Amino acid sequence: MNKVQSFDYLEQYAEIESEIDVAIKRVLKSGRLVLGQEVSAFEAEFAAWLSRTGEEGATSVAQDAFGVGVNSGTDALVVALMALGVGEGHEVITVANTAVPTVSAIAAVGAKAKFCDIDADTCLMDLEKIEACITDKTRAIIPVHLFGNVVDVPKLRSLVAGKNIKIIEDCAQSHGATLNGVSVGTMGDIGAFSFYPTKNLGAYGDAGLCLSSDANLAELMRSVRMYGFTDRQYCVRPGINSRLDELQAAILRVKLSKLDHYIERRRAIAGQYLDQLHPSIQVVRPSLGAQHAYHQFVIKLSNRDAGKQELEHVGISTAIHYPWPLHTMSGFSNLNYVEGDLPVTEASANQILSLPIYPEMNESQLEQVCSAINQLVDELAG
Ligand SMILES: Cc1ncc(COP(=O)(O)O)c(C=O)c1O
Repeated sequence: MNKVQSFDYLEQYAEIESEIDVAIKRVLKSGRLVLGQEVSAFEAEFAAWLSRTGEEGATSVAQDAFGVGVNSGTDALVVALMALGVGEGHEVITVANTAVPTVSAIAAVGAKAKFCDIDADTCLMDLEKIEACITDKTRAIIPVHLFGNVVDVPKLRSLVAGKNIKIIEDCAQSHGATLNGVSVGTMGDIGAFSFYPTKNLGAYGDAGLCLSSDANLAELMRSVRMYGFTDRQYCVRPGINSRLDELQAAILRVKLSKLDHYIERRRAIAGQYLDQLHPSIQVVRPSLGAQHAYHQFVIKLSNRDAGKQELEHVGISTAIHYPWPLHTMSGFSNLNYVEGDLPVTEASANQILSLPIYPEMNESQLEQVCSAINQLVDELAG
């Protein structure tokens, strides 16, 4: 039986091994391992790539976006919140169907997470429900572009206009996604990216980046990521140690040069799934105006757990992003939510299933997955 994995970086590494070797050697021979020219170059190249990604058919394009490399996607959120002055006594609105770190970051700065329920079709923050979540303590909103889908950030901006509420886009899963031609990460005050190995652009270890088109804010984030320094030794504000290292930056530069192709492949595979899966299967749909980046291809099944197990039996590895809505986890009991508070999020968590999708996935693997799922549906109907 041939196995289909959810994620395996080795196949891609084999294709780019010689370029990675050159990049690693270049860093090791440079005499500089942290915050050197590889990081500066990657920050500029990634910011330029995002602006370019958004160019086609864009109604507006972010100009002069500044990248600030940090240690992880979690730290990108922490650094963004700290730079915006969010902390003790403040509330930050986000969703409960996200990776734990979205809320770990809010807790890390001493603020309190408030959860907005989601839209059942897109699995994204339901903007109709945002107003009810806002209080006089709300300082920021973190919309999560989950699965590579895109929250309508311009609409969110207009809903909070005049309220002194900042928007930090959680772009950990959405490199390459756009809304009406504008790239994720460039629509809010700050875009927070993760380069965890599984992501659309993945390092060979932890890495992240904050993006802003506000030069002052970018400067502030550079200070926060390095102990709150202005120059090398003098601390002027609370800060942390969250630096992107030169090796990861050099690796990311190699992979960034291939990212358009990787995302094209993800979109092509998603297109094949849509063609080949039984039409009765519910697929989480792109939001209006979104060009999805398909970090995950997610379907909904009423008998999800049994289905997942059957797929495992025939060698197909699937995943659930995420099985426990954050407000139901004991680690977040201090937020005082109970089951039933977020009905759409909770119902969705019982049905979602992420199918294998990665650039190197081949036709026969795709057919194997589709025919196994279609058979599941036939069995259910029969
Ligand atoms: C939506 C979301 N936010 C934040 C993060 C945190 O990123 P990292 O793992 O790089 O800290 C992740 C990654 O798991 C994520 O998927």
